[in-house]
Amino acid sequence: MAMLTFPSDFFWGASTAAYQIEGALDADGRGPCIWDRFTAAGRIQDGSSAAIACDHYHRWAEDIALIRQARFNAYRFSIAWPRIVPAGTGAVNERGLDFYDRLVDGLLAAGIRPLACLYHWDLPQPLEDRGGWQNRAIVAPFADYASIMTRRLGDRVKDWMMLNEPNVVAINGYGTGDHAPGLTLGETGILRALHHQNLAQGAALRAIAAEHAGMRLGTVLNLQPSRPESDRPEDVAAAARWDAVWNRVALDGVLHGRIPSLLAAAMAPMVEPGDEAAIRFPIDLLGINYYSRMTMKHEPGRPFAVGWGDARCDRWTAMAWPVQPDGLYDLLMSLRANEGNPAVFIAENGAAYDDRVDADGAIHDAERVAFLKDHIIAVGRALTQGCNIKGYLCWSLLDNFEWAFGLSKRFGIVRVDYESLIRTPKDSYRFLSEVAAANCVLSA
Ligand code: FCB
Repeated sequence: MAMLTFPSDFFWGASTAAYQIEGALDADGRGPCIWDRFTAAGRIQDGSSAAIACDHYHRWAEDIALIRQARFNAYRFSIAWPRIVPAGTGAVNERGLDFYDRLVDGLLAAGIRPLACLYHWDLPQPLEDRGGWQNRAIVAPFADYASIMTRRLGDRVKDWMMLNEPNVVAINGYGTGDHAPGLTLGETGILRALHHQNLAQGAALRAIAAEHAGMRLGTVLNLQPSRPESDRPEDVAAAARWDAVWNRVALDGVLHGRIPSLLAAAMAPMVEPGDEAAIRFPIDLLGINYYSRMTMKHEPGRPFAVGWGDARCDRWTAMAWPVQPDGLYDLLMSLRANEGNPAVFIAENGAAYDDRVDADGAIHDAERVAFLKDHIIAVGRALTQGCNIKGYLCWSLLDNFEWAFGLSKRFGIVRVDYESLIRTPKDSYRFLSEVAAANCVLSA
């Protein structure tokens, strides 16, 4: 047995996203967003919606108490753009701002560091009606929204993340169409959405930096090592292409102002002079979402002719994602070796399992405990190798609306009964709470 101890200023906590937990979609002047439309079109697999979700919009104080009782010192949440600028541009909705005021004040009063994320996928529908992330004109509205938020909360919130997983927004939203807005625009559509998010992010970062000093500015990427299913040359090439699309456009964009060479020809028509400089920004903190590696193969007919290969793994979550904590270690080590060891934090890591509620109401989610533990050990090992890791936030505080899967997939360390909205901490909540309080983990 060895004890992995974390740095004294390390932060521990959980992450959520506005659309997945808030509910109250018609409350206090909120405008429509692309996920409302996608849901209304019958695109959610279990037929559920986020209309109520966890009702966090009304139960935020109870949820802050859960974070505090877990002895977490950090919490990442997202702000619903459609609550703040309901039409996407123009009038600002004070009542939307008031909600996040209350939330932030509550977090600070409980001694919890708020990390705010500006865009976790709930694009105001009026902006989508003008092309959404396909339209370069989205850059200014996003930068304006970033300024509105930091002017309002910047005296109290010092950590600002711009985007969450721009690759998923681009690939699932505009490529495969299984996320809102549900479009299938092929490779060009995917790359355009990626590039415009990079530009919007660059503009937002500059807008905030121009007005505020002392902020920690960053963004959240789900970096996932991409490896080929076999050593056949076409699979090796497919995995490299996928790495470029999935990881490199966003990462190389913000860190280096660089378009991956594998995609340079395809992206040339959408890149204007000066764009490389505009997407680069010296961020203070890079959030990493990690769930698994990606095993890819050559598959004609799919975007970039890349399909999912056989991961050959013996542990799987209820999402049918392989459990591969060593991939997190490898990723952190590669950032240290190849990217100048940037300051990073784990912004999401967690797993859906088919939880069972015992007769006494307890949820003994041993698989989730093991998942979290193995990944925290991977983080601890990377720290001992000198990786610059500042914190670990699990996904997620609560069971919630898992996008196209609706309410059917449970990622929470706290169970939510969607009928009564009663919250019940699971064993994983107690496990993470103990790790956070001790600031160390026992590695086998
Ligand atoms: C990530 C998302 C998050 C959640 C988890 C399971 O891709 O950022 O909202 O859906 O996956």
